[in-house]
Amino acid sequence: MTVFLESIPAWRDIRRSLAQDTVGFVPTMGALHRGHFSLVERSTAECDVTVVSVFLNPTQFSDQADLEKYPRDQDGDRAALDDYGVDYALFPTFQMIYPDEYRYKVAESGLSSQLCGASRPGHFDGVLTVVMRLLNIVRPHRAYFGEKDYQQYLLIRDMVQSFLMDIEIVPCPTVREEDGVALSSRNRRLSAGGRKQAAAFAKQLREGDSPERIRSALESLGITVEYVAEDLGRRFGAVFVDGVRLIDNVVLG
Ligand code: PAJ
Repeated sequence: MTVFLESIPAWRDIRRSLAQDTVGFVPTMGALHRGHFSLVERSTAECDVTVVSVFLNPTQFSDQADLEKYPRDQDGDRAALDDYGVDYALFPTFQMIYPDEYRYKVAESGLSSQLCGASRPGHFDGVLTVVMRLLNIVRPHRAYFGEKDYQQYLLIRDMVQSFLMDIEIVPCPTVREEDGVALSSRNRRLSAGGRKQAAAFAKQLREGDSPERIRSALESLGITVEYVAEDLGRRFGAVFVDGVRLIDNVVLG
């Protein structure tokens, strides 16, 4: 049975009682799917105790309308966390995470302004700040992140190293549907036609031969392309389908 926690002091009491255990942590923004649960399974396999957080973090949204449209499913999430046998689930409020109203933040001055950061000013500051705060609350030995958000994973890995934090950041492979679409909470908002465009996006990233050609192939299907770029041994892309922003990346070569 999952223990659901809505207060930090209650969690801190429990955390003290887990002094002998290896604690694994999976931070999420909810609307949970098999991609999230692949991280949970990895943590459960490697750690004595697994903690999941569900917090729709407003500071990482540069567009208020995007935040409002982000899928929410608290009842479904609670039931799924219980089904997967997650030990502890934290559902913090904004006040708990941001007692300072976000006066203090973690900022990164290189990679965070490229790729997904180029069009979303402040996005990665919001991500890094919330992850720093969550890691300080949970105090895990290991924290699990998906390669679907590879730039996010790299920034978090390097933040933990830079701030000399004694936490292992574990990357986990992208979970995909049979048609190649990377699982994402945002996929819930796609129409049947949008779903096909999402599959074309995944296929082009995987099989296309250059960013320029991929961009024009996607645009000819009516997909709005934010960027397609090759860097860090990977091919990255961000597109809009049905007004929903989708991101993905694949290893090159
Ligand atoms: P969210 O989009 O809910 O994702 C939570 C974690 O699940 C991230 O590490 C993400 O990379 C991973 N994930 C999502 N889809 C996946 C898939 N198809 N395969 C494998 N892993 C997948 O990412 C965030 O939330 C937030 O930015 C967060 C880190 C929680 C900070 O607010």
